[in-house]
Amino acid sequence: MKKIDVQKPEGKLGVLIVGVGGAVASTFVVGTLATRKGLTTPIGSITQLSTIKLEDGGEATAPKIKDVLPIAKLDDIVFGGWDIFEENVYEGATHAKVLEQKDLEGVKDELKAIKPMKAAFINDYVTRLHGTWTKVAPTKWDLMLQIKEDIATFKKANNCSRIVVIWSASTEVYVPMTETHMSLASLQKAMKENSPEIAPSMLYAYAAIDSGVPFINGAPALTVDMPAMWDLAEQNQVPVCGKDYKTGQTLLKTVLSPMLHTRMLGLRGWFSTNILGNRDGEVLDDPASFKTKEVSKLSVLDTILKPSEYPELYGNIYHKVRINYYPPRGDNKEGWDNLDIVGWMGYPMQIKVDFLCRDSILAAPLLLDLVLLADLSKRCGFSGIQHWLSFYFKSPMHELDKQPVHDIFAQNVMLRNKMREIIGVDYRSNID
Ligand SMILES: NC(=O)c1ccc[n+]([C@@H]2O[C@H](COP(=O)([O-])OP(=O)(O)OC[C@H]3O[C@@H](n4cnc5c(N)ncnc54)[C@H](O)[C@@H]3O)[C@@H](O)[C@H]2O)c1
Repeated sequence: MKKIDVQKPEGKLGVLIVGVGGAVASTFVVGTLATRKGLTTPIGSITQLSTIKLEDGGEATAPKIKDVLPIAKLDDIVFGGWDIFEENVYEGATHAKVLEQKDLEGVKDELKAIKPMKAAFINDYVTRLHGTWTKVAPTKWDLMLQIKEDIATFKKANNCSRIVVIWSASTEVYVPMTETHMSLASLQKAMKENSPEIAPSMLYAYAAIDSGVPFINGAPALTVDMPAMWDLAEQNQVPVCGKDYKTGQTLLKTVLSPMLHTRMLGLRGWFSTNILGNRDGEVLDDPASFKTKEVSKLSVLDTILKPSEYPELYGNIYHKVRINYYPPRGDNKEGWDNLDIVGWMGYPMQIKVDFLCRDSILAAPLLLDLVLLADLSKRCGFSGIQHWLSFYFKSPMHELDKQPVHDIFAQNVMLRNKMREIIGVDYRSNID
């Protein structure tokens, strides 16, 4: 095995969050700051809590990942970001109402100090929100240049040795992949000509990659998931990953469908519906934004169940996903799943799941792991799509001629074997 030459995580790591005042972002920031003050435990974070099996020269050990993987220390993180509203992260977290006020108090001063930079925002792409803290520029290309300047200024002002950018802003309307997104030349031309095929999220992705900064896409839009951005990432030796954090219903889907598949049980239909009342729910109430989410959520079953190989079991699945905006619930989503499954001699059975989850509580630890692992990828010299981080996403990025891996157990093996490779232990395991 070739040893990976990993640069040490020296100096400060700037974490720039697009949508830093939002529910997911502020919950992530509060929890991370509280963890480093010893006020809470980072439940749900693999990098902070999990152990990893290692075997070197016949000796098996299971140390904590954070003790053996050269990830940045939480103390070295400096938070910043952009939002379309001027409020600082303390105000953002208060508005989001995910966390109780008592949980904000311990890190109140740090939260108040995180003030968003002006956003690159165009109302046509998120129709339900009306931003007041936004950049003005003649073209989308100029907006992108302003974001690059923001990244450089933040890095210098905060004395950071490295930066990562993570998109945790609202889901934009559906922009399908076209010729525009295939080559760097056509993407740049479209940015300069203000083409409608360029959404603001692409400007952040381009600016980050062109600055040599890893970019993570936590939402389902195209953003960085196109050949033009992959080329830019290769040119600049930058790792990228996405898309759409795998949290509630899709998390369950990628656990339950491998169960059906490995036991050769059939599936006739899967109906998923949920109610949520946060700002994300309000944005997704717009059919054009919902379309982006729907495409991301629907892709899961086919790749796990492989209907073309098993037409008798999965050839005719009715798969429906609904999201209903229901303000009284706030961030505390309720998701119902009904599975019509088929057993021996074609006899029907049903599985029903009622998941009373908290959207941002499930998402926050994923952001922590992703920023640390994206920074690690960069220091390992990795570039382009980081398939090993598929574990964290609903709709893992993959080259156009390849298939994504959705099965959470297979993703877990990919994640951990790459960690072992980085640690430098010549050992593979399928169980951890
Ligand atoms: N919570 C989950 O379980 C989960 C799972 C997967 C994906 N996501 C995605 O994460 C994203 C954030 O979710 P949330 O619940 O925090 O939503 P939110 O509405 O609370 O936060 C989004 C933030 O983005 C800001 N924003 C919008 N457009 C922007 C732009 N162009 N530049 C900068 N800021 C911008 C908004 O002002 C808002 O503060 C959404 O796209 C959501 O679909 C969430």
